Amino acid sequence: MAKSYDHLFKLLLIGDSGVGKTCLVIRFAERSFAGTYISTIGIDFKIRTVEVEGKKVKLQVWDTAGQERFKTITTAYYRGAMGIILVYDITDERSFENIQNWMKSIKENASAGVERLLLGNKCDMESKRKVPRERAEKLAKEHGIRFFETSAKASVNVEEAFHALAGDILLKSTRKLGQSPKEHLDLDSSEKRRGSKCAVI
Ligand code: GTP
Ligand code: MG
Repeated sequence: MAKSYDHLFKLLLIGDSGVGKTCLVIRFAERSFAGTYISTIGIDFKIRTVEVEGKKVKLQVWDTAGQERFKTITTAYYRGAMGIILVYDITDERSFENIQNWMKSIKENASAGVERLLLGNKCDMESKRKVPRERAEKLAKEHGIRFFETSAKASVNVEEAFHALAGDILLKSTRKLGQSPKEHLDLDSSEKRRGSKCAVI
């Protein structure tokens, strides 16, 4: 049987417990949101195929538990990831401060050259914001990675974030193969412009 996709990318979400990793994965893969909170045990994954630059890209999205007690299990999955999404909660300063530790964990456990993406989730809760957007933008810039504020609940920037990451990985893989290196994917400039905006509800 013919393959139903051109590329398979493995993505991984990491970040403190409760920041909304599972909700982001469910929003992206199933286009829904459930308000009930069930903390992830160990690791789980969902799949969605998207089209990027005319290519069918199958995304295998691994959702990790943020709780410390699952560290040993979850870090074992870093190595196989081509893209890692670091998530914090804009209403929880500690979850943002911990991004440094998650970055360190990537350095220690992931493959060199893994694409990273920073997400500030729960941007629908503007009145409870503790982390100014500028702080996260600065951090992302220091690490040379993309940044979006997202809401799994209100469906803000979730599509954009996953597409941008898939696009970056695709660009990197085609460059490696020496095929028509493009400086910018079509989604690149528009997503970068829209990247940090978050609708307040
Ligand atoms: P662990 O599995 O323990 O690592 O947590 P997690 O990061 O997977 O968090 P989860 O997705 O389970 O969400 C935690 C809580 O935050 C739940 O009560 C969600 O309903 C809520 N939540 C997630 N995303 C959003 C969001 O975008 N906006 C708001 N307001 N709440 C959210
Ligand atoms: Mg979870």
